[in-house]
Amino acid sequence: MQKEIDVDIQGISLSYGKTKVLKEIDLQIEQGELLTLLGPSGCGKSTTLNIIAGFLEQDAGQLFIKGKKMNNVPSYKRDLGMVFQTYSLFPHMTVYDNLAFGLKLRKVGKEAMDEKIERSLKLVRMNGLEDRYPKELSGGQRQRVAIARALVVEPTLLLLDEPLSNLDAKLRHELRTEIKRMQNEVGVTTVFVTHDQDEALSMSDRIVIMNDGKIEQIGTPTEIYQNPKTEFVFRFIGSSTKMEGILTEIRDASYVVKLANELSLEVSKDNYLSDAAPSINEPINLYIRPEQCFFLNETNQNKLDVVLPATVSQMNYLGASWEVEVQVIGADQKISLVTQEVNEHVKVGSEVEVGWKLECMKISKSAI
Ligand SMILES: Nc1ncnc2c1ncn2[C@@H]1O[C@H](COP(=O)(O)OP(=O)(O)OP(=O)(O)O)[C@@H](O)[C@H]1O
Ligand SMILES: [Mg+2]
Repeated sequence: MQKEIDVDIQGISLSYGKTKVLKEIDLQIEQGELLTLLGPSGCGKSTTLNIIAGFLEQDAGQLFIKGKKMNNVPSYKRDLGMVFQTYSLFPHMTVYDNLAFGLKLRKVGKEAMDEKIERSLKLVRMNGLEDRYPKELSGGQRQRVAIARALVVEPTLLLLDEPLSNLDAKLRHELRTEIKRMQNEVGVTTVFVTHDQDEALSMSDRIVIMNDGKIEQIGTPTEIYQNPKTEFVFRFIGSSTKMEGILTEIRDASYVVKLANELSLEVSKDNYLSDAAPSINEPINLYIRPEQCFFLNETNQNKLDVVLPATVSQMNYLGASWEVEVQVIGADQKISLVTQEVNEHVKVGSEVEVGWKLECMKISKSAI
């Protein structure tokens, strides 16, 4: 069944002076989904959110919420709940009064108000703290109350602009899961802005990757991670080792690239990330992700297409896994691996063999 579209952004652009910060954005947000805008600082995430919220007006293009055109519709008539990075609670009001504020504006009666506030505070696990003032709450608790306050009015849309970025790592992790749970429970269409890829991958139904005012790719977390459409998306999400080579042959479905150590690798055209096709003798970048590199062992030796002798140059213990850097023997190339299998023979200086499958490599034109 086709889902209803709650937010429809058609060709929206916005400039500050001569600088175009949003360049013809097209985006449809489905009812009930948690959609994340992810991208580096300054790429236009908050600007997009602020246009949806009605705090900014686009120069060109259209915005529809629930099928209604939003030109000249002020923010307070858009039926939104919003939470920002900095604590946006009213400091002189108790938790209860913070939540009651929006309900009073909507002329909700006392009994219904009590009931709604109780339900919202339960949802964020803050019931019992109704009489506290914001200064008597921890950072995480304040953001929970801010979320409850956004949800208590039962908005059509919940807009969250980096609500976790002022919290410490452990709390962020905890609240990530909580926000996803709440959002699921309430089923409210949510737009979440972050520049944290782990946050985006773990919470979202779909992720929009933005770069320099444009959308690079829209997809589920697995689509974005496993099937990046552009070099920017591939490099922004996850980490990778870069190798440099020269294109020596163009076949029907693949490119043959020769590395500096004379090794030739044949990579499918499906894994080519640049827009324009490359030409013979052009410099090419090849990438492999650390979790797709392995130490050669009895079980995987027949499954890996590329195998290189190397020396372990660095090892970082990450708790659940090891991050290992190896130096390829006879080449000026370091390769990173993330592995859980580190035996007593692997230490800095030991000689190992590392390998990966060709299908895991991505290639692109090298920007000179
Ligand atoms: N009032 C303004 N005047 C001029 N330029 C602005 C203004 N507000 C934002 N910009 C510019 O617009 C671009 C997009 O800003 P935006 O706030 O949307 O970025 P962002 O993706 O949310 O970044 P961050 O992750 O740092 O919050 C940036 O280059 C920013 O410098
Ligand atoms: Mg921002």
